[in-house]
Amino acid sequence: MDLKGKHLIAPLDFTIQETESLFTVAQRIIANPESYSGALKGKLLATLFYEPSTRTRFSFEAAMLRLGGQVIGFSEPSSSSAAKGESIADTIRTVACYADIAVMRHPKEGSALVAARHAEIPIVNAGDGGHHHPTQTLTDLLTIKIEKGSFNNITVGVCGDLKFGRTVHSLITALNRYSGVKFVMISPQELRIPDYLREKLIQSNADFEETYDLKEALPKLDVLYMTRVQRERFFNEEDYIRLKDSYILDLPKLRKAKKDLMILHPLPRVNEIHADVDADPRALYFKQAKNGMYVRMALLMALLGKEG
Ligand code: NCD
Repeated sequence: MDLKGKHLIAPLDFTIQETESLFTVAQRIIANPESYSGALKGKLLATLFYEPSTRTRFSFEAAMLRLGGQVIGFSEPSSSSAAKGESIADTIRTVACYADIAVMRHPKEGSALVAARHAEIPIVNAGDGGHHHPTQTLTDLLTIKIEKGSFNNITVGVCGDLKFGRTVHSLITALNRYSGVKFVMISPQELRIPDYLREKLIQSNADFEETYDLKEALPKLDVLYMTRVQRERFFNEEDYIRLKDSYILDLPKLRKAKKDLMILHPLPRVNEIHADVDADPRALYFKQAKNGMYVRMALLMALLGKEG
């Protein structure tokens, strides 16, 4: 695998083989984390978060620290020169003078791509508006791989805000490269997947259906990917309030689901999964969050040219 010096902006930036080798390294790290404790000694990660984050930022920071590297960054744009009107291009040129790699989350679609064009260090997109979130997808895929062994011939339900949910856009795009994947898109009419994504699915002959009905879809699913309604991307609060509780997954609804269903969620959860579901062995979202750190360890090593 030679990912040294590359950026990760969109879910198809790495080939299937490159992605597989990241998973191999992540699984080696899971099996033997101590032996990686000095792997990135002397390297510095910058985390530039212009939008709120818990898991993505902490898992990247924890990943770097657990590899023996160090971290600088901000979690609030108000504490950076963005508050003075500095452009992304200038900020990233400056950060590249100090750090070896940067992870960026920004509310504007395309912002990570702009950063990558102006940076001489690897840039990782940790979410650009309602567009993509490729490292969440690595997390999701690693979790599916660990549980199911492969991505082929599975039926994946994605449920909730499919319009604004960047994790969904990246996951569907990435899974569509594997054969035999069936998608069931479950959402209110107003929160269906964006047209560009539907067109791509049609062009590639993907097997997918769109429905409102979670209960009816549930029994056929191998993976159910729940998402929250993305309040911050709505134009008005009334629409958000009307749509926010469109789906609430609870134990009675799960009665007809497969025994080996995987329930995933990128988190944060608001109301869409009842807390009672957490104790069900099919609820894997906190495991998924943990896998996020391991796959980000593998990613940081690969982009910084360290063999795993
Ligand atoms: C997601 C995001 O930021 O898009 N969170 C995450 O990174 N795990 C999902 C969300 O905010 O709903």
